[in-house]
Amino acid sequence: MSATKQFFPNTYRNFPSHGKITYQAPSNIALVKYWGKYGEQLPKNASISFTLDACHTQTKLHFKRKDSEDYRIEVQMDGKRVPNFEPKILKFFERIEPYMPFLKDYEFLVETSNSFPHSSGIASSASGMSALALCLLALEQQLLDQPYSEEEFKRKASFLARLGSGSAARSVEGPLVVWGMHEHIVGSSDLYGTKLPYSVHKIFGNFQDTILLVETGQKEVSSTVGHNLMHQHPYAETRFRQACDNLTKMIPVLKSGDLEAFIKIVENEALSLHAMMLTSDPAFILMKPNTLEIIHRIWSFRKETGSKLCFTLDAGANVHVLYPAKEKMAVQDFIDAELRQFCADGRLIHDQAGQGARLV
Ligand code: DP6
Repeated sequence: MSATKQFFPNTYRNFPSHGKITYQAPSNIALVKYWGKYGEQLPKNASISFTLDACHTQTKLHFKRKDSEDYRIEVQMDGKRVPNFEPKILKFFERIEPYMPFLKDYEFLVETSNSFPHSSGIASSASGMSALALCLLALEQQLLDQPYSEEEFKRKASFLARLGSGSAARSVEGPLVVWGMHEHIVGSSDLYGTKLPYSVHKIFGNFQDTILLVETGQKEVSSTVGHNLMHQHPYAETRFRQACDNLTKMIPVLKSGDLEAFIKIVENEALSLHAMMLTSDPAFILMKPNTLEIIHRIWSFRKETGSKLCFTLDAGANVHVLYPAKEKMAVQDFIDAELRQFCADGRLIHDQAGQGARLV
């Protein structure tokens, strides 16, 4: 029996004629990165991320019963129709239809907005797909003869979100979520994300993340293109093993709160992700001179002061500065004095580890 069979719903009993459901779902920042996928959005290695708090998407799903045998979906962002988003959402609906066979019984209006500016260079696919998956699942919950348990609900939400965007699997719960099968993490799966099933040192409960917006605007390389470059990549297998080993090392670090070891793993992951892009064919250099300047200044500050701040990167030029809450004042002073000058128009976002998505 295929493992995905668990996500087929049982009998529908009740079909509400119309209504609306709103969810808010957070973005996340990976500590051990997902870069390389196969099959239907399955990861080549397990990853772990901090769920964020301030950076989120809010999605209101309006639904109305219909008779026709086609999809009817309109997408609005910040109150305006965005036709160029609609094919992506349609593809998502087609992909999840086997697990949600009611989709063609309704017409939908998806109203969405992000807490972070559209031009910030922060990807909204994780928070956006998670919020939409949760809205659809909450509607399915109303249809079901036997509703999902809380556990089943979260699992299916993450499973569906993953089919929209891989990293969205990690945007349902918080503050630390694993996605991808890992032999040392009980309950981990390639199909969905799960909250790290161990008690984590309290320092990580409210870890800080200041996002330095080095470059704003559209991403230079889409993540789909990036993931695909791993298929022919000479270092691919070594990279997947490295990520797996880094996650193995990360588990005791998260339990003990050993920040020196944490910093080593997190920065190694960020630089390894970019090393994959630098050595792919075609090659991509997504870091900018200001990204490197920031990294060097973080290293000097750490050396001079003994601070436990570190950095991580996404597939772009922006820098996430991670640090414990007790260093908030000192690190934010340092950021204002030394790092903000390297951000586009001085822009940055202060965020921290969050608890996951919620019904609004
Ligand atoms: C560098 O989840 O955006 O942020 O599955 O194609 O939608 P798709 O890719 P996406 O890839 C994220 C890559 C990353 C690392 C990470 O978040 O783990």
